[in-house]
Formats: sequence, C-alpha cells, structure tokens
Amino acid sequence: MSPVPEIHIFSDPQDLASKAADLFLSSAEQAIAASNRFLVGLSGGTTPKTLYSILTSSSYARRLDWSKVQFLFGDERCVPPSHPDSNFAMVNETLFTPLKIPSTQIHRMRGEDPPQTAASQYEDTLRRLSAPAPGEWPVLDLILLGMGNDGHTASLFPGTTSLNEQTRWVVPNLAPQGTRSRLTLTLGVINHASVVLFLVTGPNKAHVVRQVIERQPMDPVLYPVELVQPQSGRLLWYLDRAAASQLSVSAKDESSR
Ligand code: 6PG
Repeated sequence: MSPVPEIHIFSDPQDLASKAADLFLSSAEQAIAASNRFLVGLSGGTTPKTLYSILTSSSYARRLDWSKVQFLFGDERCVPPSHPDSNFAMVNETLFTPLKIPSTQIHRMRGEDPPQTAASQYEDTLRRLSAPAPGEWPVLDLILLGMGNDGHTASLFPGTTSLNEQTRWVVPNLAPQGTRSRLTLTLGVINHASVVLFLVTGPNKAHVVRQVIERQPMDPVLYPVELVQPQSGRLLWYLDRAAASQLSVSAKDESSR
C-alpha cells in the first residue's frame, strides 16, 4: 500500500523552492548519516531552477557536505550535453558549476549516444551507485520530479509504452513535441525511491493537479503522474497557490507560515 501523498501549498514559486531546498538538505543529512552518501535524482525543465539556485546560496551551500552527494538525473533529452535543451546543461549551469561539484559525482544520461546504448549504460551507472541485491530495484534517496500540463513526469508521457515497463530501469521514449527523443527513469525506479518530491507551479497545471490529488471516479484519463506511487517511500507534492487553485480539499497551506 503506497503512502498517502503529502500535499504542501506555498504562496509563490520562491517560497516553494526555499522549502524544497530545506527538504533537499534534510533528506541529504538523513541519507549521509545512514549510509555516508546521498543519491539524488534531479529533474529537468524550468521549475527546479529556482531550487538549484537557492541550494548554491551561501546560507544553504554551507549546510551540506557536497562531497557525499551523487547526482543522477530523472530524464534527459537525446542531445549533446552542451545543447540548450539538455537537462544536464541546465543543472550544470545552475547547480554543479556554482557548487564546484567534481565530475566524478555527476552522473548524466549520455544524450549524445544512441538511446538504447545510453539507457543500458545508465542502468549500469545506477547499479554501480546503488548496488541493489540481485533482482531488486535501485533505491535513490530523493527523486525530484516536475509535471507537464499533460500529466507527464520525467519523460514518461501519456500513452507511451514506457508506462508499462516492468523490468528496465531506464528506457528511451518519445515526447509528443520539442526534443522528441528522450531517456527516462522508469516507474519502477521512481517508485522505489525513499522520497519522491513533485515541484509544480503555475495555473496551467491546476487541472491535472486537481485530478491527481482529488481523482474523481468518473475521470477517464489516467495521467502518468498518477502512476507515481512509492512502494514505501514518501510522496510529496510541493505546489504553489496557482497550481493548487482548483483543489477543493484543504491541503496543507504553508503560505500562512
Ligand atoms: C524535462 C522534465 C519534465 C519537466 C516537466 C515540467 O525533461 O523537461 O523532466 O518532466 O519536469 O515537463 O517542466 P517545467 O518545470 O518546465 O514546467
């Protein structure tokens, strides 16, 4: 039975990002105390940029031994690492370079390689870093996820076979628009993480947020984000007021704090 999602609503994207940075640090501290390392899967897109920027600020950066952090990615576009569409390029600019993270701690998906090759190589990376027992899924300490207004997350898009993948940890996939060729962690990996944190802002996602959080029986569409149901880890939704604007239940509104 997957845990009940923890819904947190913040007044604006900046407040959301600062609370997400607090959660990032607390998750890291717990993981490092338990196993002397922190395996984190980073999200691409635009929403997490503010979070990454806050983590590099002196008041946050000094609170963590960054040498214990291994940085992974939830998905990548099949482009070179210097391409403007590359998730690695965005995180490198906003997080890795400012924090001077050594390349040995950065594990990007090789978007420049043939997708199947890159997917298999990334599974090898995951296996090396997480060292799961034979037949077990890798366990990341924290996975950051965004959500598109079509309900996709990572590069798990509606109607794609990636949603039914039961054994592979990383698969190539096709996005409906933009840089179509992608690489993505599968739901098996995401749902075995210790903490899954969705960061969702803006009014254009409010309709999907309502369905996901308050799924009505008659709702015919099942969005990919609804398949994120951690086996035993925590599932948190960090929403700004705009993204939560169609929710009818009284979720945990942090904006008053
Ligand atoms: C990507 C992300 C993708 C993103 C959502 C939301 O590669 O773009 O993995 O899943 O999180 O599309 O994107 P925004 O944060 O830009 O709205």
